[in-house]
Amino acid sequence: MKVLGIESSCDETAVAVVEDGRKVLSNMVVSQIEEHKLYGGVVPEIASRRHCESIVGVTDLALKEAGLTLDEIDAVAVTYAPGLIGALLVGVNFAKGLALVKKKPLIPVHHIRGHIAANYLVHPELEPPFLCMVMSGGHSHIVWVKSYTEYEIIGRTRDDAVGEAYDKAARALGFPYPGGVHMDQAAQNGDPDHYRLPRPKVDGNPYDFSFSGLKTAVINLIHHAKQKGEEVCVSDVAASFQLTVCDLISGRLMRAAEEYRADKIVLAGGVSANSGVRTRMETECKKMGIKLYMPPLCYCGDNAAMIASQGYFEAVHAKKAGMSLNATASLPITDEKFEIKEAVL
Ligand code: KG4
Ligand code: ZN
Repeated sequence: MKVLGIESSCDETAVAVVEDGRKVLSNMVVSQIEEHKLYGGVVPEIASRRHCESIVGVTDLALKEAGLTLDEIDAVAVTYAPGLIGALLVGVNFAKGLALVKKKPLIPVHHIRGHIAANYLVHPELEPPFLCMVMSGGHSHIVWVKSYTEYEIIGRTRDDAVGEAYDKAARALGFPYPGGVHMDQAAQNGDPDHYRLPRPKVDGNPYDFSFSGLKTAVINLIHHAKQKGEEVCVSDVAASFQLTVCDLISGRLMRAAEEYRADKIVLAGGVSANSGVRTRMETECKKMGIKLYMPPLCYCGDNAAMIASQGYFEAVHAKKAGMSLNATASLPITDEKFEIKEAVL
């Protein structure tokens, strides 16, 4: 089954073709980052307008690269939630048009489910159940992935997502948007023990996170140094921040792995590109005899191959939407918000 995937939830217009959820036939991404950089973050209206301009051209490229015509596609999968509403609407409406005209099943895909599915593209043996750390610009969840379409959230952030904390701390240190990758690079030349940043405990659930204190601690550190006329060592701050993030994530994840008797841990989302988190999780999983799965860097960030992959598994589980499908700005990974039409396969 060849699925055309469409992703437009934030600042990447992406279209891909994936066969049977695992084999990437094409994967095209047009990033708007350079434009949003000028404003220090994503400007929603600009994002929607750029998606509108790019989506037809990116789809043409993805089909050409796959050597297929639209008639040879078996289903159209699209990110319908969560994300910037205006941005999502462009992809959803475009997908509906394609599905309607070409009489193809329309498969709605949850963006975070897609991030998890990025792993199916490169690890053919990976099958649920497994424990997953989802870490992106908008989400930080520990998820028990029960099946390809069933999830249980066992930990979540109470405030900022880890990617958001990275980007805000990076901004305070003078890095351009999105700052996560710059912080990561700077951290590699820094002393992680130079600054001691807070590792907040969250009452109630041992698997919940709080990242906003960490971000504020970096902002305060810079502010206090300025007041005293002292220089902050950017690479040391970045390294201390990265060490704290690694401690917070690996501590909770390994504890959850023990409780859930997980033999597989999967990383997903933009921050799974982080070199510190990857190395730390490799070490921890090796110690505990747990198999670790990570997406390659090219599939960590937003892309449409992951949407086409998840679209296949949603289709297999008969999750086909009708033409009333709408975009939804926020939706838990456990939920679905569309009218299910008849089985696809
Ligand atoms: O998953 P993603 O591409 O988009 C969302 O769905 O949010 O994640 C983007 C986030 C941004 O906050 C970005 O700074 C962060 O992932 N990120 C990183 C790294 N690469 C991307 N954070 C830390 N280290 C990295 N190497
Ligand atoms: Zn994403």
